[in-house]
Amino acid sequence: MNRSIMFCAALLLIPAAAANAETAADNYRTYCVQCHGLKGDGKGINVADMSTQPRDHTDAKEMSARTDQELFKVIKEGGQSINKSVLMPPWSSILTDEEIQDLVKHLHKLCKC
Ligand code: HEC
Repeated sequence: MNRSIMFCAALLLIPAAAANAETAADNYRTYCVQCHGLKGDGKGINVADMSTQPRDHTDAKEMSARTDQELFKVIKEGGQSINKSVLMPPWSSILTDEEIQDLVKHLHKLCKC
């Protein structure tokens, strides 16, 4: 058995819940950090050029002002869907509803709220 097959086999053994949290963290790193920052603090590499600054996802006060439904909606349909900036893109064509729900949980971890 070569190493990559063994690696895949090992991944299959991870319980579903752990895998979801891991996927959410991965998705965040892949799709969100360029604007929201590696730590989720809103200081991604894109921000210098942006007229509206990305939300600081570690800001418990701002983040707890939103319901989970609103967070889900803004990730799925983009900033405009909740009267926010178009600079927050919609992710419905890339992420499944389940992945978006897991990202909402991931946001709660980032803000500890
Ligand atoms: C191209 C840059 C960019 C990317 C990539 C991006 N965002 Fe955003 N995001 C923004 C901006 C800008 C805002 C602030 C919008 C505003 O305040 O009007 C925002 C706001 C938000 C908000 C908060 C809305 C609020 O104010 O309550 C959430 C939640 C969010 N983004 C989640 C995500 C997630 C999850 C991802 C990755 C799947 C992501 N964003 C990727 C730019 C981006």
